[in-house]
Amino acid sequence: MGALTLAPLAADLVAAHFGSQDGALAIGGIDCRELARIYGTPFYAYDGDAMQARYRALSDAVSPFARVYYSIKANPRPQIARLFVDCGAGLEIASAGEFAAARAAGCSSDAMLFAGPGKGARELETVLAAGLSELHVESFEEIALAGAIAARLGRSLAVAIRINPGEAAQGGAMRMGGKPAAFGFDEEILAGVVAAIAAQPALRLDGIHLFTGTQVLDAGVLLAQWRYGLDLAARLASLTGRPLARIDLGGGLGIPYHAGDPTLDLAAVAAGVPSLMARKNSDPLLRAAEVIIEPGRWLTGPAGAYVMAVRAVKVSRGQRFLVTDGGMHHHLAASGNLGQVIKRDFPIVAASRLGVPPTGPAQIVGPLCTPLDTLGRGTAMPDLAAGDLIAVLQSGAYGLTASPAGFLSHDPPAEILIQAGAHRAIGPDRD
Ligand SMILES: Cc1ncc(COP(=O)(O)O)c(C=O)c1O
Repeated sequence: MGALTLAPLAADLVAAHFGSQDGALAIGGIDCRELARIYGTPFYAYDGDAMQARYRALSDAVSPFARVYYSIKANPRPQIARLFVDCGAGLEIASAGEFAAARAAGCSSDAMLFAGPGKGARELETVLAAGLSELHVESFEEIALAGAIAARLGRSLAVAIRINPGEAAQGGAMRMGGKPAAFGFDEEILAGVVAAIAAQPALRLDGIHLFTGTQVLDAGVLLAQWRYGLDLAARLASLTGRPLARIDLGGGLGIPYHAGDPTLDLAAVAAGVPSLMARKNSDPLLRAAEVIIEPGRWLTGPAGAYVMAVRAVKVSRGQRFLVTDGGMHHHLAASGNLGQVIKRDFPIVAASRLGVPPTGPAQIVGPLCTPLDTLGRGTAMPDLAAGDLIAVLQSGAYGLTASPAGFLSHDPPAEILIQAGAHRAIGPDRD
C-alpha cells in the first residue's frame, strides 16, 4: 500500500485508522475517490465505527473507575454525538446550542453536564427548564444567577464546582488550569465557593469538576491529574462533611499530530485504574461518587479526515505550490492558527496516490487570499496534478466548527459519516 513512502506518523495513522484501496486512502472501507465523486470536494469524512470502537476501548480502560462522557464541542454534529450516546455516553455541553445538538443526538437532559466560563441567563433558563440535571458553576455571578433561576423554576439543582487547580496538577499542551485562568474557581478559594452555593437554597452542591489541559499524551501525567482531582474532591467533601455524588475529572486526552508526538498509552492508563479506585474507596465521602471523564479530541479526532482536491500546481521561485479547494476556512487547526504556539503541519497524505513515492517538498495552500491559508509547509509529496486528492488526517475533532467558515464566503464542505460500509451526508445541514 506504499506506506513506506509516507512520513512515519502519517503512515502509522493510515495503517491504524484508514487503510488503502487501489492506491488511494480508504475511509471506513470506502475509497476516498468515490466519496469525492459522490459528494464533491472538499469534504470531511468520519468513520463512525472507528469512533465507537475508540469509545469502547477507553471505557474498558477506565472501567470500573470512571464513566466516559463525550465533550460535544470536539465535533458537535448530532449524528456524531449520537454514536457515543448509543454506546451509553453522557455528553458534556458548553452552550444552549450544544444543548440542542445533544438533544438532537438523543441524549436525555439528565445525562448532560453543562460547563463553560460565561453562561448567559437565557441559556441557563433554557437548559434548566428543559431538565438539565447538573450545572458546573464557574463564577460567583453564575452561582447567584443559577440559584435565582432554579428557585423560580421550583427546582433543586445539583451543581458541581469547576476548580482551577494549583500548579501541582499541570499537564497537557494547552493548559487551562494550574495558572491564572477564566475557567472555574482557583482551588485556593474553595471554602468561599462552598459558602456561596450554600446561600442559594435552590442549589445542591454535589460534585467537583476539573479540566486541567488539553492534548495530554503522557499516561502518567493524566493519571497524576486524576489523582489530584480525587484529592481535591476529598478536600471539598471534608469541607461540607457530605458525600459527593459526582467527580468530573475532565477531558484532555491527546492524539499525535506531529512527528515525534507519542500515542497515549491506553494500557498504561488502565494499569493506573486500580490505584485510583483504591484511593476513591478509601474515603467514605467519595466512595459512592460517580467518576466521569469527558474527552472530545481523543474519541473523534483520529477517525476523521479532511479531503481536498488539487486545483493548480505552481512553481514560484523554485518552490512547488499545490493550490487546493480546501483550507483554513474549513480547518483552522490544520493551518496552525487555532492556538498553537508553533505552526506545525498536521499529518497530510496524497490521498489519491498513496503508494507513489514523494518527489519533493510542496507548500499545500488553500483558496483564500492570505498566506495564513497554508496547511502543508515543505510537505513531501509525489507529483500531483489538478484533480488529485490530498487528505489531512487527525481531523475528526476541532475541525469545521472550530474554523472561520464564513471567511471569504466559500461553500461549506460536505460532512460524511460512514458506518458499516455505508456513507451519508450529515452536513452541511442535512441529515
Ligand atoms: C470543560 C471541558 N471539558 C472537555 C473538553 C474536551 O477537551 P479534549 O477535546 O481535549 O478532550 C474541553 C475542551 O476545551 C473543556 O473545556
